[in-house]
Amino acid sequence: MPADANAYGDIFGGWLLGLMDSGAGLFAARYSKGRAVTIALDGMHFHKPVKVGDEVSIYAELVRVGRSSMTIFIDAWRRERTQEEREKVTDATFTFVAIDDTGRPRAVHQET
Ligand SMILES: CC(C)(COP(=O)(O)OP(=O)(O)OC[C@H]1O[C@@H](n2cnc3c(N)ncnc32)[C@H](O)[C@@H]1OP(=O)(O)O)[C@@H](O)C(=O)NCCC(=O)NCCS
Repeated sequence: MPADANAYGDIFGGWLLGLMDSGAGLFAARYSKGRAVTIALDGMHFHKPVKVGDEVSIYAELVRVGRSSMTIFIDAWRRERTQEEREKVTDATFTFVAIDDTGRPRAVHQET
């Protein structure tokens, strides 16, 4: 939407970063079956701009699971709303830590 863009109609990088963090957070909460928080973000690279009106899709891939941490690769894609082609706009690697009710790290449930 226009409120998320600069004067040239490009969406702010911070808006996209927030969307990616939210997506990774949903994934981490679902995987760890509880609360999880961002502890690190590595290697963010903006390849292409997102324009006002674009559809944006976020994909998550689990890269690594530690005792309490999850490393999640996120990539984001744009599609002009009337077109079929899509292009990758950015990617980054997020690390989330599963936490308990006191805010301390807890062991991640390992899927079998
Ligand atoms: C998440 C938090 C509870 C972890 O506490 P901590 O005392 O640093 O925890 P630990 O040192 O035991 O590390 C926990 C895990 O994080 C990993 N970790 C710590 N620092 C890391 C970093 N910079 N990058 C990647 N992983 C990291 C550790 O390797 C460990 O993984 P493992 O359990 O899978 O082996 C604490 O750092 C915190 O509350 N941070 C703020 C989180 C937050 O508010 N995020 C939103 C930002 S606005």
